[in-house]
Amino acid sequence: MAMLDIINLRTYFPSPDGLVKAVDEVDLQIESNEKLGLIGETGCGKTVLGMSIIRLLLPSTRIMGRIIYKGKNLLDLNSEEMRLLRGREIAMILQNPTTSLNPVLKVGDQIAEVLRLHMGLDKEQAKAKAVEMLAATMIPEARMRADQYPHELSGGMKERVMIAMGLAGQPSFVIADEPTKGLDAKTKAEIVKLIRDMTANRSMLMITHDLAAAGDICDRIAVMYAGELLEVATAGAILRDPCHPYTQGFVHCLPSQGLQPIPGSSPSLIDPPLGCRFHPRCPRAMDICKKEHPPMIKMNKGNFARCFLCT
Ligand SMILES: Nc1ncnc2c1ncn2[C@@H]1O[C@H](COP(=O)(O)OP(=O)(O)O)[C@@H](O)[C@H]1O
Ligand SMILES: [Mg+2]
Repeated sequence: MAMLDIINLRTYFPSPDGLVKAVDEVDLQIESNEKLGLIGETGCGKTVLGMSIIRLLLPSTRIMGRIIYKGKNLLDLNSEEMRLLRGREIAMILQNPTTSLNPVLKVGDQIAEVLRLHMGLDKEQAKAKAVEMLAATMIPEARMRADQYPHELSGGMKERVMIAMGLAGQPSFVIADEPTKGLDAKTKAEIVKLIRDMTANRSMLMITHDLAAAGDICDRIAVMYAGELLEVATAGAILRDPCHPYTQGFVHCLPSQGLQPIPGSSPSLIDPPLGCRFHPRCPRAMDICKKEHPPMIKMNKGNFARCFLCT
């Protein structure tokens, strides 16, 4: 049995213009110890998918389907049961440390708070452990840094704080949301290595724009477009032999491939195109693609793609 089994997940936001279907009929399994990358253009629903798992969404959000974690449907848990699980079993390293960290609290105290909450440590123990966690993220002079406020740290150091906070409760399952975004190449490489080392014995959903980082860290990669998954395959297959024309376009955006962005823009999540959601931008669209919504088609070796061309 998979550690996490997401079945027909739909996460919809009511809005004055209609329902925003940010996650639409997503099926996804993550095995124990597996690292799964989630990639796709801005606004396609990646963060909402992560937030749905850990249930950090407004009460007005409509979440349907099943999210089976270690045999239990998370969507059946009440908010108190979910609170106990969050941080301890499943943790999320939030996107954008600058807005996610509390600007008026020392970073060491923010990590210590998680440790008190989830590990039952007292104030002194939590503070000492927070410094240890920071040191484990390879922040130089961790003791001094722990007493600083977020604005005194560089972008890379803030990301390390986010990682220390996310892992403080020793979760079995980690959701990392764009952990390398906005970092320079050298810092990015260090953070990739850190994430790889610190999640060695955990499962992870890593949301990222950075295909190279996903290739370095992840076993499999899921490609998301307009709220749904278009391709799920081994990292090697996605990077070197993608089947879906959207994935092919995305991979060709890699700097090493000359940065050819896919022409056109993402469709509305309220009223997505009929047929294949990608067909208006697809260089290989056929007649059927305008009329029929392609199912996930199983290719060889357990790879899947939602495209009539991938059989
Ligand atoms: N609370 C909300 N209410 C309405 N729409 C939302 C809300 N949160 C996110 N969305 C919409 O859901 C879509 C997916 O967002 P998100 O998951 O943040 O995208 P990304 O793939 O860039 O992480 C976007 O169109 C966004 O505007
Ligand atoms: Mg996001």
